[in-house]
Amino acid sequence: MAKTSLIALVSLAVCISSAHAAVAPGPTKFKVEGRVYCDTCRVEFETKLSQPISGAVVNLECRNRTDGAVTYKSPEVTTSKEGGYSIDVEGDYEDSDCDVTLVKSPRADCSDPTEDWRKARVVLTALDGISGNVRYANNLGFKKKEALPECKKVLTEMGYYELKEELGHEAAP
Ligand SMILES: *[C@@H]1O[C@H](CO)[C@@H](O)[C@H](O)[C@H]1NC(C)=O
Repeated sequence: MAKTSLIALVSLAVCISSAHAAVAPGPTKFKVEGRVYCDTCRVEFETKLSQPISGAVVNLECRNRTDGAVTYKSPEVTTSKEGGYSIDVEGDYEDSDCDVTLVKSPRADCSDPTEDWRKARVVLTALDGISGNVRYANNLGFKKKEALPECKKVLTEMGYYELKEELGHEAAP
């Protein structure tokens, strides 16, 4: 008898929750994913010599675009062996600017947050036409204290020095 009423109760609960799910869409949930690298060439972008950093700490913060108030702050998240992280976010942040930010590096030789590569903007709203709940953030990087000797060759292959020269000419009066 007790068993029967328990089953009835469970079925009722299942009915209510599925009816509820059908009527009101659940809260929006996002998964923000990205990677943290060591910028071994001190150039603030990824090269083939960049190394994933395991154990780096990042967090995600959203701020109201109008008044700058914090609308969401994630716990600090640590990168995996491959340097990747995943942050779960609940809610829709259409009116906020959301950024993943570097917090801490476990590597003493690679712990300067880069200027251009320390923050990654992510769009966390279902209203932007992007389907799916996984949002990929641009990679982030800490700068190595001293560039690796192989950097010159790799950067030359990438056309970095030519680019720098071009910009230099343009910037010259
Ligand atoms: C953002 O700030 C504006 C101005 O203070 C306010 O009207 C609005 O409700 C805020 N939005 C959120 C999502 O907090």
